[in-house]
Amino acid sequence: MISLNVNGKNYRVDVSDDTPLLWVLRDYLKLTGTKFGCGIGECGACTVHIDGKAERSCAIPVKQAQRKKITTIEGLPQNHPVKKAWIQEQVVQCGYCQPGVIMQVAALLSQKPALNADQIINKMDDVICRCGTYPRIKKGIKTAIEMTKKEVKKS
Ligand code: FES
Ligand code: FES
Repeated sequence: MISLNVNGKNYRVDVSDDTPLLWVLRDYLKLTGTKFGCGIGECGACTVHIDGKAERSCAIPVKQAQRKKITTIEGLPQNHPVKKAWIQEQVVQCGYCQPGVIMQVAALLSQKPALNADQIINKMDDVICRCGTYPRIKKGIKTAIEMTKKEVKKS
């Protein structure tokens, strides 16, 4: 039996230790926002946060995710700057890759010391969008940074 903490909730699932975390999230916990793309850690569609770091859930055996804090796209607040920026800049086309893209950007945006837009954009090279929304992803990143700065000023 595997114990997981996902989006602040505790779960116990009866799966073998080497089951990819992605299958557990989608098939057992029914958190289907996280997508399957390549299944070999190459495309980024399955990106989630594990203890705040962007990780590819298709390449993580579920046992490795025990006793860690897992966040999926469903657990990222609706008012998170990346989600808001993605809506404002209409980044999404078909949408399939975007949960993973958003989770990767959100993790980079929370790094300390803060990364600038170019540094974040450079770290997105390994994320694949078959619709080619890359120009809008770059715009979204810049907008999310601006929104984050405004929120920091307000607080
Ligand atoms: S599905 Fe995990 S990186 Fe492609
Ligand atoms: S928006 Fe369609 S794959 Fe990225």
